[in-house]
Amino acid sequence: MSSVVPEIWTYCENLSTAPSEYLDQIERDTHLHTLQPRMISGRLQGRLLSMLSKMLAPTRILELGTFTGYSALCLAEGLAPTGKLISLENNAEMQTRILQNWAKSPYFKQMELIIGDALQTLPHLNDTFDLIFLDADKQNYLNYYEILLGKLRAGGILLADNVLWSGKIIDQEAQDKKTKALRLFNDFVSQDKRVELVMLPFRDGLSCIRKK
Ligand SMILES: C[S@@+](CC[C@H](N)C(=O)[O-])C[C@H]1O[C@@H](n2cnc3c(N)ncnc32)[C@H](O)[C@@H]1O
Repeated sequence: MSSVVPEIWTYCENLSTAPSEYLDQIERDTHLHTLQPRMISGRLQGRLLSMLSKMLAPTRILELGTFTGYSALCLAEGLAPTGKLISLENNAEMQTRILQNWAKSPYFKQMELIIGDALQTLPHLNDTFDLIFLDADKQNYLNYYEILLGKLRAGGILLADNVLWSGKIIDQEAQDKKTKALRLFNDFVSQDKRVELVMLPFRDGLSCIRKK
């Protein structure tokens, strides 16, 4: 999925600080027991999420798309001691696995899982967030964006994953719904004067969006 050659990716992964053992366990378990394990952020992206979160030391983190809870745990590493992370997931079958995975970490008590469609849940969240990780259904990225920007504090960071969509984003032959929706999202954010944007060609593409 990454645009760098696999050997370079592995080299960077091997030399980067190793994640906690429970994260490696969760990654292995995700590959063994879920249908689409490639959805997990994985080791190097997990370390990047952790590093960015530690830089911001957020008191409020929001995630859309929990899957097995891996990225939430990486983001939680940067939480301020009184901070809280909320993660939204629509697949109720994942609930037990997520909570069991989170319970392996020291951040469990600072993390809340809300099961349900994120578009329905978001209007009921009254918090303002310092850091948001957008990693749910790609067709709705633009719909989420407007709502999320309203919930992000000035100076806060919104990270949007999969913005290169395995390179399909620049392949004019690719006209499926998800690719088209991601193109619209990327174009809209790049023109939006309310934010600064850096698109990183990291893994499947990670947009770093800072609200002015
Ligand atoms: C790419 S995975 C998330 C991976 C996870 N963030 C990680 O890095 O380990 C996307 C997740 O979003 C969930 N999802 C899809 N549509 C959703 C929706 N409308 N509301 C909430 N979650 C949704 C899927 O069930 C899936 O678990």
